[in-house]
Amino acid sequence: MGQMLRLVRSPVLWLVVEAGKPTPEAAAALRRTSVTHRYIGCGEKLNATDYRPHQMNAALDLVENHRLDGIVYFAQEEGVYSLQLFHQMRQIRRFGTWPVPVISHNTKDGVLLQGPLCKEGQVVGWHTSEDGTKLRRFHIAMSGFAFNSTMLWDPRLRSHLAWNSIRHPDTAKEGFEGTTFVEQLVEDESQMEGIPDDCSLIMNWHVPSGSGNLAYPKGWRVVTNLDVIIPLK
Ligand SMILES: *[C@@H]1O[C@H](CO)[C@@H](O)[C@H](O)[C@H]1NC(C)=O
Ligand SMILES: *[C@@H]1O[C@H](CO)[C@@H](O)[C@H](O)[C@H]1NC(C)=O
Repeated sequence: MGQMLRLVRSPVLWLVVEAGKPTPEAAAALRRTSVTHRYIGCGEKLNATDYRPHQMNAALDLVENHRLDGIVYFAQEEGVYSLQLFHQMRQIRRFGTWPVPVISHNTKDGVLLQGPLCKEGQVVGWHTSEDGTKLRRFHIAMSGFAFNSTMLWDPRLRSHLAWNSIRHPDTAKEGFEGTTFVEQLVEDESQMEGIPDDCSLIMNWHVPSGSGNLAYPKGWRVVTNLDVIIPLK
């Protein structure tokens, strides 16, 4: 992540949140990337099974408390990001969204595309799978949107559902984390910007960790070993 972010045109501020206490080893590794960053910890006193909402909220606290002006994006270790993504994000004025392929654990499902269908910058529909997630308001991946940080503290810019602070609840049902958060920011699709205009670019992927049995998209798989032998010295 750090190696990629060093290639992104500045200004970029990378907020890294450790699930627990910050460690000197991670701090040193982050300094070596030479990317402008803040490294903080969270949840030392929590008994959480999933630290992610707490990690993202700790970063949101920092953005809000310091009134950091910019575009907020949630990246994580299960993502693969292109440089183009960070380039395209600079177009966002308020709330931008784009489709993200989710490489499934399940070979039957293969690759699922999740996110908006757009026309001339407007969101006109959603890509989703045929499972129980149809009840979601927005079929949006956590890594498929970014927003103007002023929405966190300016009540005129956000959804009426955001009655207090805009944060990730740690009670969202699996698959509903994205929509639960986004519903606090926007009322409906008309307040979203499709990035780029026709949402035709795949700029990042979500690859859930912890499975040796991932479904590879056709065309990415190397069927046989390459016919090269490198002798050990
Ligand atoms: C966390 O869990 C441990 C073991 O179940 C327990 O002893 C401890 O009191 C818990 N801490 C908090 C803050 O709930
Ligand atoms: C974010 O929103 C504020 C308030 O509407 C605006 O002044 C600012 O230009 C926006 N930032 C970007 C990058 O568009």
